[in-house]
Amino acid sequence: MKDDLEKIIAKALKAKTEPPRGRRPEPLKRKVLAMIFEKPSLRTRVSFEVAAAQLGGSAIYIGPDEVQMGKRESVADVAKVLSGYADVIMYRAFSNEVMHELAKHAAVPVVNGLDDLEHPCQCAADLMTVMERKQKLKGLQLAYVGDGNNVCNSLLLGCAVVGMNMRAATPKSHAPNADILSNARSIAEENGCVVEAMSNPFDAVEGADVIYTDTWVSMGQEEEREERESMFLPYQVNAKLVERAGKDWMFLHCLPAHRGLEVSEEVIDGPQSLVFTQAENRLHVQKAILAAVV
Ligand code: CP
Ligand code: NVA
Repeated sequence: MKDDLEKIIAKALKAKTEPPRGRRPEPLKRKVLAMIFEKPSLRTRVSFEVAAAQLGGSAIYIGPDEVQMGKRESVADVAKVLSGYADVIMYRAFSNEVMHELAKHAAVPVVNGLDDLEHPCQCAADLMTVMERKQKLKGLQLAYVGDGNNVCNSLLLGCAVVGMNMRAATPKSHAPNADILSNARSIAEENGCVVEAMSNPFDAVEGADVIYTDTWVSMGQEEEREERESMFLPYQVNAKLVERAGKDWMFLHCLPAHRGLEVSEEVIDGPQSLVFTQAENRLHVQKAILAAVV
């Protein structure tokens, strides 16, 4: 696992410097990526589609109303049918269980493009962005502030795997997934780092090299918007909070962002913010992932 993630990051950094079309490797030549989206997307959809094209292949977008996973037909049948057409499937799902069921029945690789529990491709791009800026990952300190959601869960696992310390500050009622945290803690121990969950954002940010936040209202939680926006207010990443960061800290956010809610404008549009580099890096990471699985 450690090797896989480190290889993806290294390959993505290399992909970023590759020569223009016609002179770069095309591991997806004549291959097709099928992308199933149960939720909206800008970055994941476009970066995967461009990645497939730049690697010599093509991508098919399948939107929320088309497949109706498990409703129009069973997940197993969708997996078997798509495996007959496509060389790789990318799936953005509501449910992590359905993600695993699709992967179990598919004869081709299934890439997780976000579900309710994890967002692994995002995490790989996040770590690539840190590596690109700091030239290392091991021993750095990442502070995640806000909702203990899919992005937070994947960062806990990703940081543990690459030997980065992580403190996740969330309200107790919205802590990261307990099984993922416990798994991340054991991996971290093996890799000589510490991952922790806490509730005080100021403690989490103390001396941090990377400060990370995400939306307080993930896709599918729209009905809880009002309650969440008031509960998470003490977790806003703003000028006062980032005063506690270490020297040369950077701000990351997976986007889409909500200025004035999880992050103030001065932070996300300020000199420490790398959010658009991070978004661009989704493309380079998707290329590395696709090349690794086909
Ligand atoms: N960060 C991210 O996954 O963005 P999209 O939802 O636009 O794909
Ligand atoms: N936590 C967010 C991430 C969006 C990319 C969500 O699941 O909506």
